[in-house]
Amino acid sequence: MRILITGGTGLIGRHLCNALLEQGHLLTVLSRHPETIAVKCGAAVQAMASLEEWRPDRTLDAVINLAGEPIVDAYWSEKRKQVLRDSRIALTEKLVQCIAAAKQKPTVLLSGSAVGFYGNGGDMELDEDANAGNDFAADLCREWEQAALAAEIYGLRVCLLRTGLVLSESGGLLGRMLLPFKLGLGARLGDGKQWMSWVHIEDYVSMVMRLLDDEQARGPFNMTAPQPVTNAEFTRTLARTLHRPAIFAAPAMVLRLAMGERAALLLEGQRVLPAKLTTVGYRFKFPSLGNALDDLLHR
Ligand SMILES: NC(=O)c1ccc[n+]([C@@H]2O[C@H](COP(=O)([O-])OP(=O)(O)OC[C@H]3O[C@@H](n4cnc5c(N)ncnc54)[C@H](OP(=O)(O)O)[C@@H]3O)[C@@H](O)[C@H]2O)c1
Repeated sequence: MRILITGGTGLIGRHLCNALLEQGHLLTVLSRHPETIAVKCGAAVQAMASLEEWRPDRTLDAVINLAGEPIVDAYWSEKRKQVLRDSRIALTEKLVQCIAAAKQKPTVLLSGSAVGFYGNGGDMELDEDANAGNDFAADLCREWEQAALAAEIYGLRVCLLRTGLVLSESGGLLGRMLLPFKLGLGARLGDGKQWMSWVHIEDYVSMVMRLLDDEQARGPFNMTAPQPVTNAEFTRTLARTLHRPAIFAAPAMVLRLAMGERAALLLEGQRVLPAKLTTVGYRFKFPSLGNALDDLLHR
């Protein structure tokens, strides 16, 4: 297939490019830094610097839309919130305009979202039928999904990737946590009761491939492992895997003071279940956190 990937230079995108290239697909990656694509995504990947380059006579079979400014990295001022929205919602709207203009349309759009769609879910188990939350991250995901669903009127099959915390050997959540945990300074966050819905990068990539190929797949998919854990359990398991103690707790009040509204990403959570992928028979290589961390950290 000829596939366009936005956000292809990111943590998930680079793993995905590798796997798709191995299967013989022809890839184009949209990036603000097209000169980095060969190194990050592979020499065979074509670069696209702007969506203006998608002319109506260009044929693409599939689009995977992952682009978005990192959500945890900077304080959520009103200006930053707009940047987070524009990099996802406005970009997805432009993508749908390109799809509308294309003479021959792609057949499928896989578009990003996150488990933050559900807001703070407490202890409730959340499948794809659960309602959206009502905080900033939930609104962002909901509007991002709506923008992507607009492609359905052009005949595309649209899958929404409600992504959990993606665990990979470099970068992302683990990249941030490893140093303090290796130094024995790993800490539970707040009371540690908030749920963390994680997924091993290898399972994530396999699930994306499945959704690309499965012509019956459409709508939202929880892209998470089937065994979410609380933050306390995550902290214990990571410390155990690294053979280090984790005796500290970061007080919720301190995190709220330091991070403002963004602290919700650490202190609140969702207990998400990949109900639809499980129903269609997807078999997880890493269903449990212990095995996933063991694989990533002791490979
Ligand atoms: N990793 C996770 O645990 C996780 C969890 C839930 C949801 N997600 C979502 O899944 C998507 C991919 O995640 P990731 O971890 O691979 O992200 P990442 O490593 O931060 O990469 C993000 C990608 O988005 C592009 N991008 C960033 N800001 C942009 C902007 N202002 N305009 C256009 N493109 C922009 C970047 O491309 P260039 O710099 O090349 O332009 C980069 O390739 C993100 O949208 C993220 O929010 C990820």
